[in-house]
Amino acid sequence: MNMMRFSSLRAAALLCGISLCGLSVPALAQGETVDMHVDTDTAGGEVIDRNIFGQFAEHLGQGIYGGVWVGKKSPIPNVRGIRSDVVAALKAIHVPNVRWPGGCFADEYHWRDGVGPASARKVHVNSNWGGVPEANTFGTDEFMDFANQIGADAYVSVNVGSGSPEEAGDWLEYMTAPTKTTLAKERAANGHPAPYKVAILGLGNENWGCGGAMSPDHYVEEMKRFAHYVHNFNPEQHTANQMKRVAVGWDSGKSDYTEEVMKAWASRVYSWDIEGVSLHNYVVGGWPPHLPATGFGEDDYAASIREAFNMDKLIVRQTSIMDKYDPSKKVFLSVDEWGAWLAPTPGSHEGFLAQQNSLRDAILAAVNLNIFARHADRVKNANIAQMINVLQAMILTDGPKMVLTPTYHIYHMYVPFQDATFVPVSYDAGRYVHGKDSMPRLDAIAARDKEGHLWLSLVNIDPNNAVSIHLDHATSATGQVLTAPKVDAVNTFAAPDAVTPQAVKIEAGAKGLVIDVPAKAVMVVRLD
Ligand code: AHR
Repeated sequence: MNMMRFSSLRAAALLCGISLCGLSVPALAQGETVDMHVDTDTAGGEVIDRNIFGQFAEHLGQGIYGGVWVGKKSPIPNVRGIRSDVVAALKAIHVPNVRWPGGCFADEYHWRDGVGPASARKVHVNSNWGGVPEANTFGTDEFMDFANQIGADAYVSVNVGSGSPEEAGDWLEYMTAPTKTTLAKERAANGHPAPYKVAILGLGNENWGCGGAMSPDHYVEEMKRFAHYVHNFNPEQHTANQMKRVAVGWDSGKSDYTEEVMKAWASRVYSWDIEGVSLHNYVVGGWPPHLPATGFGEDDYAASIREAFNMDKLIVRQTSIMDKYDPSKKVFLSVDEWGAWLAPTPGSHEGFLAQQNSLRDAILAAVNLNIFARHADRVKNANIAQMINVLQAMILTDGPKMVLTPTYHIYHMYVPFQDATFVPVSYDAGRYVHGKDSMPRLDAIAARDKEGHLWLSLVNIDPNNAVSIHLDHATSATGQVLTAPKVDAVNTFAAPDAVTPQAVKIEAGAKGLVIDVPAKAVMVVRLD
């Protein structure tokens, strides 16, 4: 079987629009060994920006209230109202940034409602998510405290849909101005004299839909005003660590915001600029979301993983639009909402988007992260939706109980890839075919971390057959593998370790280094 370089696969993908589509790669027979070459001789690979491992936390269901915020008087151990078990778990996955307060919620959010004494804060209706009261107990200062406790940067989305540049400008001044202005003094009086760092600024959210149903032209005019009037005054972000502004892009193909935003950017004047454009895309299987989160079999598994591979097609399409206006890749693509959007947990509030998280979702996450890594030249940020208790979550909570999901374990296993340098891998991916669903059987990326260690991720998508990988040039592999007896295996409060990583250590034998990857598994190893 001929070896095919992944770079040639990507070239083919550009031509036919989806990775590996149309290529007649024969399926691998069971027990077959795949030769893999990690091309360590190629220098100058792209850095896999740690921000592709970002999280998204919206005021939605129990994403914030119950998931992050329990209140200062809660019997659940907390620091200033923020639950300590969740903070410890998130610190371990080195969350680079958290996107907040939405989502659709952001374009109805008025920051003033969420600062100052808790008892004086306005209670609103959360009209997007279940019509429940939003007490604004968790506001700007609580969010910044949370981000600081987990060691993450703040990605703040301002209200373009129902707000004004003045309101957003004031919010940024409240957060970032040194203690001379009225708003900075107000922040100091609320307990934080030093300016906050706002690493990323979202200029609206899905403004084609919940963000105001704006035409692309209308959005572009609004976006320019926000990009001009919303300043970051933090002295530590003036030269280094400058705030990155992300405009709204992809609108599910209705017209294409990305085209209009990039066209405007190419002829921008001195008074405004952006550094990123967003892309949102969920694995959903059609609206309303109906893919089961539990109790499913190979049909649903194959359909959802096949749909996950569409992310590559979308990025290729968005990149080709961006390349027209920005061939030197100054503006990055921010995939700031992605993940599996499944049928809600039976008995849960439909507006809370609560769902279980299975081994299938872990594999889906690894497939997406690998796609982002391969597009590291353009994709510099991504935020999985959503961090806790909502959609494809890292963590589920119920009162004092907390459980880590299979997706959490993927993020933990992938920590070595944060800011590592992409290294090309050559292999025959083969095909996993189930009914009408056909996709690569094997998916792999490699990268070198700052200490010089070489890391390899191997995703065996086939739920029925293990695969053996033969690697040249390596003598041992040490790391972890995540798998389970069934694709719909989940972690529960009663059985929190049903899907949990197992340590692996493989030494080279007479045939060199051969790594056996179980069926339906993700393995991350350090190669020595
Ligand atoms: O993540 C849930 C919702 O999905 C977000 O609020 C919105 O931006 C998207 O449509």
